[in-house]
Amino acid sequence: MPERFTFTRADFPDGFVWGAATSAYQIEGSSFGGAGPSHWDTFATTPGNVVRGEDGRVACDHFHRWEEDLDFVRGAGLDAYRFSTSWARVIPEGRGAPNADGLAFYDRLVDGMCARGLQPWLTLYHWELPSPLADLGGWRNRDIAYWFADYAEVVMRTLGDRIYATAPINEPWCVAWLSHFLGQHAPGLRDIRAAARAMHHVLLAHGRATQAMHALGCTGLGAVMNFEHAEPADASAEAADRARTYDAIYNRWFVEAVTRGAYPAEALAGLEPHLPAGWEKDFATITAPVNWLGINYYTRKLIGPAPGPWPALEEVDGPLEKTDMGWEIYPDGLHGFLRRVADTAPGLPLFVTENGMATDVSPDDGPRIAYLEDHVAAVRRAMAEGVPLRGYFVWSLLDNYEWALGYEKRFGLVHVDFDSLARTPKASWHALRAALA
Ligand code: FCB
Repeated sequence: MPERFTFTRADFPDGFVWGAATSAYQIEGSSFGGAGPSHWDTFATTPGNVVRGEDGRVACDHFHRWEEDLDFVRGAGLDAYRFSTSWARVIPEGRGAPNADGLAFYDRLVDGMCARGLQPWLTLYHWELPSPLADLGGWRNRDIAYWFADYAEVVMRTLGDRIYATAPINEPWCVAWLSHFLGQHAPGLRDIRAAARAMHHVLLAHGRATQAMHALGCTGLGAVMNFEHAEPADASAEAADRARTYDAIYNRWFVEAVTRGAYPAEALAGLEPHLPAGWEKDFATITAPVNWLGINYYTRKLIGPAPGPWPALEEVDGPLEKTDMGWEIYPDGLHGFLRRVADTAPGLPLFVTENGMATDVSPDDGPRIAYLEDHVAAVRRAMAEGVPLRGYFVWSLLDNYEWALGYEKRFGLVHVDFDSLARTPKASWHALRAALA
Protein backbone atom coordinates (compact mmCIF):
# COMPACT_ATOMS: atom_id res chain seq x y z
CA MET A 1 0.00 0.00 0.00
CA PRO A 2 1.33 3.49 -0.86
CA GLU A 3 2.61 5.73 1.92
CA ARG A 4 2.86 8.88 -0.13
CA PHE A 5 1.32 10.61 -3.11
CA THR A 6 3.14 10.83 -6.44
CA PHE A 7 1.74 14.33 -7.12
CA THR A 8 2.83 17.55 -5.43
CA ARG A 9 1.37 21.04 -5.34
CA ALA A 10 3.82 22.01 -8.08
CA ASP A 11 1.98 19.74 -10.55
CA PHE A 12 -1.02 22.07 -10.39
CA PRO A 13 -1.50 25.65 -11.59
CA ASP A 14 -0.89 28.55 -9.22
CA GLY A 15 -3.99 29.27 -7.22
CA PHE A 16 -5.35 25.73 -7.41
CA VAL A 17 -7.29 25.30 -4.16
CA TRP A 18 -6.64 22.31 -1.90
CA GLY A 19 -9.18 21.81 0.85
CA ALA A 20 -10.98 19.50 3.21
CA ALA A 21 -14.72 19.37 3.85
CA THR A 22 -17.02 18.66 6.80
CA SER A 23 -20.63 19.43 7.72
CA ALA A 24 -22.27 20.80 10.85
CA TYR A 25 -24.48 17.90 11.99
CA GLN A 26 -21.76 15.36 11.28
CA ILE A 27 -19.16 16.95 13.57
CA GLU A 28 -20.43 19.76 15.84
CA GLY A 29 -22.65 18.09 18.42
CA SER A 30 -26.26 19.23 18.01
CA SER A 31 -26.91 19.29 21.77
CA PHE A 32 -24.51 22.19 22.39
CA GLY A 33 -24.91 25.95 22.12
CA GLY A 34 -28.66 26.36 21.94
CA ALA A 35 -29.32 24.63 18.62
CA GLY A 36 -32.95 23.78 17.99
CA PRO A 37 -34.07 20.24 17.16
CA SER A 38 -33.68 19.18 13.54
CA HIS A 39 -35.28 16.40 11.56
CA TRP A 40 -31.98 14.47 11.84
CA ASP A 41 -32.26 14.42 15.65
CA THR A 42 -35.68 12.77 15.43
CA PHE A 43 -34.92 10.57 12.41
CA ALA A 44 -31.82 9.22 14.16
CA THR A 45 -33.64 8.45 17.39
CA THR A 46 -36.51 6.66 15.68
CA PRO A 47 -35.82 2.89 15.78
CA GLY A 48 -34.59 1.30 12.56
CA ASN A 49 -33.35 4.42 10.77
CA VAL A 50 -29.69 4.60 11.78
CA VAL A 51 -27.21 1.83 12.57
CA ARG A 52 -27.24 1.27 16.36
CA GLY A 53 -29.53 4.29 16.69
CA GLU A 54 -26.53 6.63 16.71
CA ASP A 55 -27.17 10.37 16.46
CA GLY A 56 -25.29 13.66 16.21
CA ARG A 57 -25.90 14.98 19.71
CA VAL A 58 -22.17 14.91 20.50
CA ALA A 59 -20.60 13.80 17.19
CA CYS A 60 -16.95 15.00 17.20
CA ASP A 61 -17.67 17.75 19.75
CA HIS A 62 -16.32 20.16 17.16
CA PHE A 63 -18.45 22.86 18.83
CA HIS A 64 -15.86 22.89 21.63
CA ARG A 65 -12.79 21.57 19.77
CA TRP A 66 -12.92 23.65 16.60
CA GLU A 67 -9.56 25.35 17.15
CA GLU A 68 -7.72 22.03 17.23
CA ASP A 69 -9.67 20.95 14.13
CA LEU A 70 -8.77 24.09 12.18
CA ASP A 71 -5.14 23.51 13.17
CA PHE A 72 -5.36 20.14 11.39
CA VAL A 73 -6.60 21.84 8.22
CA ARG A 74 -3.76 24.32 8.35
CA GLY A 75 -1.25 21.68 9.45
CA ALA A 76 -1.96 19.56 6.36
CA GLY A 77 -0.99 22.53 4.22
CA LEU A 78 -4.51 22.97 2.85
CA ASP A 79 -5.72 26.31 1.50
CA ALA A 80 -9.43 26.08 2.19
CA TYR A 81 -11.97 24.64 4.59
CA ARG A 82 -15.45 23.70 3.40
CA PHE A 83 -17.86 23.73 6.35
CA SER A 84 -21.57 24.24 6.88
CA THR A 85 -23.73 26.32 9.16
CA SER A 86 -26.61 24.49 10.80
CA TRP A 87 -29.98 26.11 10.11
CA ALA A 88 -31.29 24.67 13.40
CA ARG A 89 -28.35 26.20 15.31
CA VAL A 90 -28.65 29.62 13.68
CA ILE A 91 -32.48 29.85 13.84
CA PRO A 92 -33.83 27.20 16.26
CA GLU A 93 -37.43 27.67 15.10
CA GLY A 94 -36.36 27.73 11.46
CA ARG A 95 -37.94 31.18 11.07
CA GLY A 96 -37.76 34.27 13.24
CA ALA A 97 -35.31 35.00 16.02
CA PRO A 98 -31.71 33.88 15.50
CA ASN A 99 -29.77 32.16 18.29
CA ALA A 100 -27.05 34.64 19.22
CA ASP A 101 -24.79 31.86 20.57
CA GLY A 102 -25.10 29.98 17.30
CA LEU A 103 -24.14 32.95 15.17
CA ALA A 104 -21.31 33.81 17.58
CA PHE A 105 -19.95 30.27 17.20
CA TYR A 106 -19.77 30.57 13.41
CA ASP A 107 -18.33 34.07 13.73
CA ARG A 108 -15.45 32.71 15.84
CA LEU A 109 -15.03 29.74 13.51
CA VAL A 110 -14.71 31.93 10.41
CA ASP A 111 -12.34 34.27 12.21
CA GLY A 112 -10.33 31.18 13.13
CA MET A 113 -10.09 30.21 9.46
CA CYS A 114 -8.98 33.70 8.48
CA ALA A 115 -6.38 33.76 11.26
CA ARG A 116 -4.92 30.54 9.85
CA GLY A 117 -4.91 31.83 6.28
CA LEU A 118 -7.69 29.43 5.20
CA GLN A 119 -10.37 30.34 2.66
CA PRO A 120 -13.81 29.80 4.27
CA TRP A 121 -16.06 27.79 1.91
CA LEU A 122 -19.59 27.89 3.31
CA THR A 123 -22.52 25.53 2.76
CA LEU A 124 -25.80 26.83 4.16
CA TYR A 125 -27.73 23.57 4.19
CA HIS A 126 -26.06 20.25 4.80
CA TRP A 127 -29.27 18.56 5.89
CA GLU A 128 -30.30 19.54 9.43
CA LEU A 129 -33.73 21.00 8.76
CA PRO A 130 -35.23 22.68 11.86
CA SER A 131 -38.02 20.45 13.19
CA PRO A 132 -40.65 23.22 13.28
CA LEU A 133 -40.21 23.54 9.49
CA ALA A 134 -40.31 19.77 9.05
CA ASP A 135 -43.67 19.92 10.88
CA LEU A 136 -44.90 22.27 8.14
CA GLY A 137 -43.94 19.81 5.43
CA GLY A 138 -40.28 20.70 5.07
CA TRP A 139 -39.09 20.36 1.49
CA ARG A 140 -42.62 19.47 0.35
CA ASN A 141 -43.78 22.98 1.21
CA ARG A 142 -43.06 25.63 -1.42
CA ASP A 143 -42.60 28.24 1.32
CA ILE A 144 -39.31 26.61 2.21
CA ALA A 145 -37.69 28.56 -0.61
CA TYR A 146 -38.55 31.79 1.23
CA TRP A 147 -37.69 30.50 4.72
CA PHE A 148 -34.35 29.34 3.37
CA ALA A 149 -33.57 32.64 1.66
CA ASP A 150 -34.30 34.47 4.94
CA TYR A 151 -31.93 32.14 6.79
CA ALA A 152 -29.26 32.67 4.11
CA GLU A 153 -29.54 36.43 4.68
CA VAL A 154 -29.19 36.06 8.46
CA VAL A 155 -26.00 34.01 8.03
CA MET A 156 -24.51 36.26 5.39
CA ARG A 157 -25.17 39.46 7.32
CA THR A 158 -22.89 38.05 10.03
CA LEU A 159 -20.32 36.04 8.04
CA GLY A 160 -20.56 37.34 4.48
CA ASP A 161 -17.67 39.81 4.73
CA ARG A 162 -15.20 36.93 5.27
CA ILE A 163 -16.67 34.08 3.20
CA TYR A 164 -14.71 33.10 0.10
CA ALA A 165 -17.32 30.93 -1.61
CA THR A 166 -20.86 29.83 -0.77
CA ALA A 167 -23.05 26.95 -1.89
CA PRO A 168 -26.62 27.23 -0.64
CA ILE A 169 -27.45 23.50 -0.56
CA ASN A 170 -25.22 20.44 -0.38
CA GLU A 171 -26.26 17.67 -2.77
CA PRO A 172 -29.87 18.37 -3.75
CA TRP A 173 -30.26 14.73 -4.88
CA CYS A 174 -29.76 13.60 -1.28
CA VAL A 175 -32.07 16.30 0.08
CA ALA A 176 -34.83 15.29 -2.34
CA TRP A 177 -34.55 11.77 -3.76
CA LEU A 178 -32.56 9.91 -1.09
CA SER A 179 -34.68 11.44 1.68
CA HIS A 180 -38.18 11.49 0.13
CA PHE A 181 -38.19 8.60 -2.36
CA LEU A 182 -35.60 6.12 -1.08
CA GLY A 183 -36.33 7.00 2.55
CA GLN A 184 -32.73 6.51 3.66
CA HIS A 185 -32.19 9.99 5.11
CA ALA A 186 -34.43 12.32 7.14
CA PRO A 187 -37.37 12.70 6.88
CA GLY A 188 -37.34 9.07 5.68
CA LEU A 189 -40.26 9.27 3.25
CA ARG A 190 -40.86 6.85 0.39
CA ASP A 191 -43.40 8.75 -1.65
CA ILE A 192 -43.23 9.84 -5.29
CA ARG A 193 -45.29 12.99 -4.79
CA ALA A 194 -43.21 14.10 -1.81
CA ALA A 195 -40.06 13.34 -3.81
CA ALA A 196 -41.17 15.28 -6.88
CA ARG A 197 -42.03 18.32 -4.79
CA ALA A 198 -38.73 18.16 -2.93
CA MET A 199 -36.88 17.76 -6.26
CA HIS A 200 -38.39 21.07 -7.38
CA HIS A 201 -38.47 23.04 -4.13
CA VAL A 202 -34.83 22.31 -3.36
CA LEU A 203 -33.93 24.02 -6.63
CA LEU A 204 -36.31 26.90 -6.01
CA ALA A 205 -34.71 27.37 -2.58
CA HIS A 206 -31.27 27.34 -4.18
CA GLY A 207 -32.38 30.05 -6.61
CA ARG A 208 -34.15 32.24 -4.04
CA ALA A 209 -31.20 32.10 -1.65
CA THR A 210 -28.82 32.89 -4.49
CA GLN A 211 -30.88 35.94 -5.43
CA ALA A 212 -31.09 37.09 -1.80
CA MET A 213 -27.35 36.77 -1.26
CA HIS A 214 -26.61 38.47 -4.53
CA ALA A 215 -28.81 41.37 -3.45
CA LEU A 216 -26.72 41.64 -0.26
CA GLY A 217 -23.61 42.02 -2.41
CA CYS A 218 -22.22 38.53 -1.76
CA THR A 219 -19.84 37.10 -4.35
CA GLY A 220 -18.48 33.62 -5.01
CA LEU A 221 -21.95 32.03 -5.13
CA GLY A 222 -22.07 28.49 -6.48
CA ALA A 223 -23.81 25.15 -6.21
CA VAL A 224 -22.64 21.74 -4.98
CA MET A 225 -24.15 18.62 -6.53
CA ASN A 226 -23.34 14.93 -6.26
CA PHE A 227 -22.84 12.66 -9.24
CA GLU A 228 -22.74 8.89 -9.55
CA HIS A 229 -21.61 7.21 -12.74
CA ALA A 230 -24.53 5.04 -13.93
CA GLU A 231 -23.81 2.05 -16.12
CA PRO A 232 -26.22 -0.56 -17.49
CA ALA A 233 -25.79 -3.80 -15.53
CA ASP A 234 -25.90 -5.88 -18.73
CA ALA A 235 -26.15 -5.50 -22.51
CA SER A 236 -29.98 -5.51 -22.62
CA ALA A 237 -32.04 -2.60 -23.93
CA GLU A 238 -33.94 -2.54 -20.62
CA ALA A 239 -30.77 -2.07 -18.59
CA ALA A 240 -29.63 0.73 -20.92
CA ASP A 241 -33.00 2.43 -20.55
CA ARG A 242 -32.99 2.20 -16.73
CA ALA A 243 -29.42 3.48 -16.53
CA ARG A 244 -30.55 6.49 -18.56
CA THR A 245 -33.43 7.05 -16.13
CA TYR A 246 -31.11 6.81 -13.12
CA ASP A 247 -28.67 9.18 -14.78
CA ALA A 248 -31.44 11.70 -15.50
CA ILE A 249 -32.75 11.69 -11.90
CA TYR A 250 -29.32 11.77 -10.32
CA ASN A 251 -26.85 13.44 -12.65
CA ARG A 252 -28.93 15.69 -14.92
CA TRP A 253 -32.00 17.00 -13.05
CA PHE A 254 -30.22 19.53 -10.81
CA VAL A 255 -27.31 20.68 -12.95
CA GLU A 256 -29.44 21.13 -16.06
CA ALA A 257 -32.11 23.02 -14.08
CA VAL A 258 -29.56 25.47 -12.70
CA THR A 259 -27.55 25.95 -15.91
CA ARG A 260 -30.16 25.42 -18.64
CA GLY A 261 -33.53 26.00 -17.00
CA ALA A 262 -35.00 22.62 -17.97
CA TYR A 263 -35.60 19.15 -16.56
CA PRO A 264 -34.55 16.03 -18.53
CA ALA A 265 -37.40 14.20 -20.30
CA GLU A 266 -36.30 10.82 -18.90
CA ALA A 267 -36.95 12.06 -15.35
CA LEU A 268 -40.07 14.09 -16.16
CA ALA A 269 -41.54 10.85 -17.52
CA GLY A 270 -42.15 9.75 -13.94
CA LEU A 271 -42.06 12.98 -11.96
CA GLU A 272 -44.12 15.43 -14.01
CA PRO A 273 -47.55 14.26 -12.77
CA HIS A 274 -46.42 14.95 -9.20
CA LEU A 275 -44.71 18.32 -9.63
CA PRO A 276 -46.38 21.41 -8.16
CA ALA A 277 -48.56 23.38 -10.61
CA GLY A 278 -46.69 26.09 -12.49
CA TRP A 279 -43.27 24.55 -11.94
CA GLU A 280 -42.00 25.74 -15.35
CA LYS A 281 -42.33 29.37 -14.25
CA ASP A 282 -39.81 28.87 -11.46
CA PHE A 283 -36.86 28.39 -13.80
CA ALA A 284 -36.39 32.16 -13.92
CA THR A 285 -35.43 31.90 -10.23
CA ILE A 286 -33.69 28.52 -10.40
CA THR A 287 -31.28 29.79 -13.06
CA ALA A 288 -30.07 32.73 -10.95
CA PRO A 289 -26.47 33.10 -12.15
CA VAL A 290 -23.80 31.12 -10.27
CA ASN A 291 -20.05 31.72 -10.31
CA TRP A 292 -18.89 28.13 -9.91
CA LEU A 293 -20.06 24.53 -9.65
CA GLY A 294 -18.94 21.93 -7.13
CA ILE A 295 -18.86 18.23 -7.95
CA ASN A 296 -19.09 15.61 -5.20
CA TYR A 297 -18.05 12.22 -6.49
CA TYR A 298 -17.53 8.83 -4.83
CA THR A 299 -18.57 5.86 -6.96
CA ARG A 300 -20.47 4.30 -9.84
CA LYS A 301 -23.60 2.15 -9.86
CA LEU A 302 -24.65 -0.68 -12.14
CA ILE A 303 -28.33 -0.32 -12.96
CA GLY A 304 -30.78 -2.93 -14.16
CA PRO A 305 -34.56 -3.20 -14.64
CA ALA A 306 -36.85 -4.08 -11.73
CA PRO A 307 -40.55 -4.92 -11.61
CA GLY A 308 -43.06 -2.35 -10.39
CA PRO A 309 -43.91 1.28 -11.12
CA TRP A 310 -41.53 3.94 -12.48
CA PRO A 311 -38.56 4.20 -12.27
CA ALA A 312 -38.60 0.35 -12.27
CA LEU A 313 -34.86 0.01 -11.70
CA GLU A 314 -32.47 -1.46 -9.20
CA GLU A 315 -28.80 -1.29 -8.30
CA VAL A 316 -26.86 -4.44 -9.14
CA ASP A 317 -23.77 -5.49 -7.20
CA GLY A 318 -20.60 -4.70 -9.18
CA PRO A 319 -17.24 -6.49 -9.46
CA LEU A 320 -14.82 -3.66 -8.60
CA GLU A 321 -12.94 -3.22 -5.33
CA LYS A 322 -15.20 -1.57 -2.73
CA THR A 323 -14.81 0.89 0.14
CA ASP A 324 -16.28 0.31 3.61
CA MET A 325 -19.46 1.92 2.27
CA GLY A 326 -19.75 -0.95 -0.19
CA TRP A 327 -19.12 1.59 -2.96
CA GLU A 328 -17.07 0.50 -5.99
CA ILE A 329 -13.85 2.44 -6.56
CA TYR A 330 -14.08 3.97 -10.04
CA PRO A 331 -11.88 7.06 -10.65
CA ASP A 332 -12.77 7.17 -14.37
CA GLY A 333 -16.23 8.27 -13.31
CA LEU A 334 -14.81 11.45 -11.80
CA HIS A 335 -12.92 12.18 -15.01
CA GLY A 336 -16.12 11.60 -16.98
CA PHE A 337 -18.21 13.97 -14.84
CA LEU A 338 -15.61 16.71 -14.97
CA ARG A 339 -15.76 16.54 -18.77
CA ARG A 340 -19.52 16.33 -18.79
CA VAL A 341 -20.24 19.19 -16.37
CA ALA A 342 -17.71 21.34 -18.22
CA ASP A 343 -19.74 20.69 -21.40
CA THR A 344 -23.07 21.32 -19.65
CA ALA A 345 -21.90 24.63 -18.18
CA PRO A 346 -19.26 25.98 -20.55
CA GLY A 347 -16.86 28.43 -18.98
CA LEU A 348 -17.92 27.98 -15.35
CA PRO A 349 -15.04 27.23 -12.96
CA LEU A 350 -15.42 23.77 -11.44
CA PHE A 351 -14.30 22.37 -8.09
CA VAL A 352 -14.30 18.85 -6.73
CA THR A 353 -16.03 19.73 -3.45
CA GLU A 354 -16.06 16.17 -2.04
CA ASN A 355 -14.12 13.01 -2.79
CA GLY A 356 -12.80 10.37 -0.44
CA MET A 357 -13.38 6.91 0.98
CA ALA A 358 -14.47 5.13 4.13
CA THR A 359 -11.75 2.76 5.30
CA ASP A 360 -10.55 1.65 8.69
CA VAL A 361 -7.18 -0.05 8.39
CA SER A 362 -5.24 2.31 10.62
CA PRO A 363 -2.46 2.91 11.28
CA ASP A 364 -1.20 2.59 7.70
CA ASP A 365 -4.26 4.11 5.91
CA GLY A 366 -2.87 2.93 2.56
CA PRO A 367 -6.25 2.35 0.87
CA ARG A 368 -7.23 6.00 1.39
CA ILE A 369 -3.92 7.21 0.00
CA ALA A 370 -4.41 4.96 -3.05
CA TYR A 371 -8.01 6.14 -3.52
CA LEU A 372 -7.08 9.82 -3.35
CA GLU A 373 -4.02 9.28 -5.58
CA ASP A 374 -6.11 7.64 -8.30
CA HIS A 375 -8.86 10.26 -8.15
CA VAL A 376 -6.36 13.12 -8.23
CA ALA A 377 -4.86 11.45 -11.31
CA ALA A 378 -8.34 11.50 -12.90
CA VAL A 379 -8.59 15.19 -12.04
CA ARG A 380 -5.24 15.90 -13.70
CA ARG A 381 -6.29 14.08 -16.85
CA ALA A 382 -9.44 16.20 -17.10
CA MET A 383 -7.45 19.39 -16.51
CA ALA A 384 -4.94 18.41 -19.21
CA GLU A 385 -7.92 18.06 -21.55
CA GLY A 386 -9.04 21.60 -20.79
CA VAL A 387 -11.59 21.21 -17.98
CA PRO A 388 -11.55 24.45 -15.93
CA LEU A 389 -11.07 22.70 -12.60
CA ARG A 390 -9.82 25.09 -9.93
CA GLY A 391 -9.69 23.05 -6.75
CA TYR A 392 -10.14 19.75 -4.93
CA PHE A 393 -11.57 19.07 -1.46
CA VAL A 394 -11.15 15.81 0.43
CA TRP A 395 -14.15 14.38 2.25
CA SER A 396 -13.46 14.52 5.11
CA LEU A 397 -11.22 16.30 7.58
CA LEU A 398 -12.40 14.11 10.48
CA ASP A 399 -13.99 10.72 11.00
CA ASN A 400 -17.58 11.73 11.70
CA TYR A 401 -21.27 10.85 11.83
CA GLU A 402 -21.93 9.16 8.51
CA TRP A 403 -25.71 9.69 8.65
CA ALA A 404 -27.75 6.49 8.56
CA LEU A 405 -24.54 4.46 8.88
CA GLY A 406 -23.51 6.03 12.18
CA TYR A 407 -19.92 6.37 13.37
CA GLU A 408 -18.26 3.27 11.94
CA LYS A 409 -17.62 4.57 8.40
CA ARG A 410 -14.33 6.41 8.70
CA PHE A 411 -13.81 9.05 5.98
CA GLY A 412 -11.36 11.22 7.93
CA LEU A 413 -7.81 12.33 7.23
CA VAL A 414 -7.78 12.62 11.01
CA HIS A 415 -8.88 9.72 13.21
CA VAL A 416 -11.44 10.43 15.94
CA ASP A 417 -11.79 8.13 18.95
CA PHE A 418 -15.50 8.45 19.66
CA ASP A 419 -15.07 7.55 23.34
CA SER A 420 -12.32 9.98 24.28
CA LEU A 421 -12.89 12.30 21.25
CA ALA A 422 -9.10 12.39 20.81
CA ARG A 423 -7.91 13.29 17.30
CA THR A 424 -4.93 11.59 15.61
CA PRO A 425 -3.78 12.44 12.08
CA LYS A 426 -3.70 9.38 9.81
CA ALA A 427 -1.05 8.42 7.24
CA SER A 428 -3.19 10.08 4.53
CA TRP A 429 -3.01 13.39 6.44
CA HIS A 430 0.79 13.11 6.62
CA ALA A 431 1.00 12.15 2.93
CA LEU A 432 -1.13 15.14 1.96
CA ARG A 433 1.00 17.44 4.06
CA ALA A 434 4.12 16.16 2.28
CA ALA A 435 2.53 16.57 -1.16
CA LEU A 436 1.35 20.13 -0.47
CA ALA A 437 4.43 21.39 1.37
C1 FCB B 1 -21.88 12.90 0.78
C2 FCB B 1 -22.27 13.87 1.86
C3 FCB B 1 -21.37 13.86 3.07
C4 FCB B 1 -20.89 12.48 3.40
C5 FCB B 1 -20.32 11.82 2.18
C6 FCB B 1 -19.75 10.44 2.43
O1 FCB B 1 -23.00 12.51 0.09
O2 FCB B 1 -22.30 15.19 1.37
O3 FCB B 1 -22.07 14.47 4.13
O4 FCB B 1 -21.93 11.77 3.94
O5 FCB B 1 -21.30 11.71 1.20
